[in-house]
Amino acid sequence: MLDLIIKNGTIITADETYKGEIGVENGVITYIGSAGKLDHLINTDPENGPVTKVIDAEGKYVMPGLIEPHMHVKAPFSGTIDMLDFYTASKCAAFGGVTTFMDFSTTTESMPVLEAVEDRLREMEEESALDYCVHPKFINAGKDKEELRKTIKTLVEKGVPAFKMFTIYPGVMIKDADILRIMQTAKEEGALCGFHAESNDIAQFMTEKLIEEQKKDWEYFNAAKPNACEAEAVNRIIEFAELTDAPIYFYHLSTKEAVEAVRQAKKRGLKVYAETCGHYLAFTDEKNKGKDGINYLMSPPLRSEEDRKAMWDGLRDGTLSLVTSDNEVFTREIKEKDLETDEKGEKIPDFRKPVNGIPGLEERFGLLMAGVNRGDITLNKLVELGSTNPAKIFGCYPKKGCLEIGCDADIIVVDPEKEVPLTWENLHYPPELDYSIYEGFVSRGWPICTIRRGEILVENGEFKGKKGSGQFLKCKVKL
Ligand code: URP
Ligand code: ZN
Repeated sequence: MLDLIIKNGTIITADETYKGEIGVENGVITYIGSAGKLDHLINTDPENGPVTKVIDAEGKYVMPGLIEPHMHVKAPFSGTIDMLDFYTASKCAAFGGVTTFMDFSTTTESMPVLEAVEDRLREMEEESALDYCVHPKFINAGKDKEELRKTIKTLVEKGVPAFKMFTIYPGVMIKDADILRIMQTAKEEGALCGFHAESNDIAQFMTEKLIEEQKKDWEYFNAAKPNACEAEAVNRIIEFAELTDAPIYFYHLSTKEAVEAVRQAKKRGLKVYAETCGHYLAFTDEKNKGKDGINYLMSPPLRSEEDRKAMWDGLRDGTLSLVTSDNEVFTREIKEKDLETDEKGEKIPDFRKPVNGIPGLEERFGLLMAGVNRGDITLNKLVELGSTNPAKIFGCYPKKGCLEIGCDADIIVVDPEKEVPLTWENLHYPPELDYSIYEGFVSRGWPICTIRRGEILVENGEFKGKKGSGQFLKCKVKL
C-alpha cells in the first residue's frame, strides 16, 4: 500500500512536462506515470494499516523540491551573527519550496576544518527539518602536504566533498598558493573547490579612494567593489583551474565580465560551474540609493541593468547553472549597530560598517517564477536551476533533484495562480526581522505543499516539519 499519492497534477522536471501521478512508499517514489494505475494501492481503511494520503493536484504543477546549496545560518560574520538557526531556516525554506539545504563550516584558525565540519553537522542534525549537507570552508592549506591530503580524503569519504574558499575578507581569505595546493589535491581526491571570488586588494584600494573623497553613502558600495573586483578574482581562479585541471565552482556571480569569463572557460573545455543569486536577477544598484540602501548591502554588490540582463542570458545559455539565495539574515538594528549618529539622532551612512548579507531562502522560488512569467526561462529550466543542477553539481543526484522511481520523494505542489506578495508579513522569518527587501514584489505561482522524503513539511499554510527530522545527505562529486 502507498503512503502518499499525488494525482491529476502536471509533472514538471528539468526535461519533461506531462500529466501524471506519483506514488510514494517509505519516503521514496515507487511509481510515476499515467493516471489511474495506483487506485488499487490506496488504503482508505485504518484497520488495514496506515491510510494513504491523497493529494489532488488538479490545475497544479508537481516539481522536485528545490535544493539550496548556498546559505549562511549561524555564521559569525563582521563581528555579529545572523538570526536564523537550522530549524527557523527549515521553516522559511520549506515555505519557499526547498527540501534540501547545504550550509558551510565556520572554520577558524583555532578550529581545523574537520572539527568545524563535525560541529556544523551536529547543529544541523539537532535542528534541521530538511535534509542537509555541509560545504567545508578552507582558510589555509596547513603546513604539511600529506596532512592536507588526509583531510581532503576524510572529507570526501565523509560525503562533504564541495569546499569553499574566500579570496576576500581578512581572517577567512586564503592565499593564492594555498588555493593552488587545495585545488590540486581536491582534483586528485574527487572534491570540488568553490569560490567567493572578489579581489581583496581592489576592494581595499577603491574603498580608501572613496573615503578620501568623502563618498561613504550606501550608493558608493558598488564603486568600492566595482565589476573589476569580481572579474579579476574570477579570471585568476580560472587560470588556476587551467594550471591544475581541477573542476571549480563560483558562488554568487554578479557581473557581465565574470559571466563572460566563465562562458569562455567552458568553451575551452574547463570544468567551470557557476551560480548567480535571486537578488542579482531582481535588482540593480538603484536599490542602494536612499535611506533603505543599507538593506541591500550584500557581497558582491548589486550591479547595473546590463549586468542584471547578463545574468539571465547566462542562465539561458547554460553558462550559469544555478540560482541560489546566499541567504544571511540580519535585522536593520544589527546592520546599523556600528554606525555613528548625527546631532539629530540620525544614523550616518558608511558603507564599510554594516554587515553584508540579505534574506532570500524563502523568496527564491518567487524570483525564478517571475522569470518564467516574463518568458525569460521555462518551467523546466526553473527546475534545472533550482533543483536538478544543484543535485548534479554538489553530488546528490539522482537521490535528489529529480522525480523518478527510486528517488527521495522530495516534491512540491505549486499553484500557478496563487499570488504571494513577498512582504515580511507573508514570509516566515522570525518576527524580529522587520523588513523585506522584496516589498512590492508579488510572486505569481507559489508552492502550496512541500514534501520531504514523503513527509509533509508545509500544507494549508502550516509548517509541520519536526526539529531534527532532516537527514544528512552523503554527497559524492562526479564532475
Ligand atoms: O554578503 C554576503 N554575501 N554575505 C554572506 C557571506 C558571503 O560573503 O558569502
Ligand atoms: Zn560569498
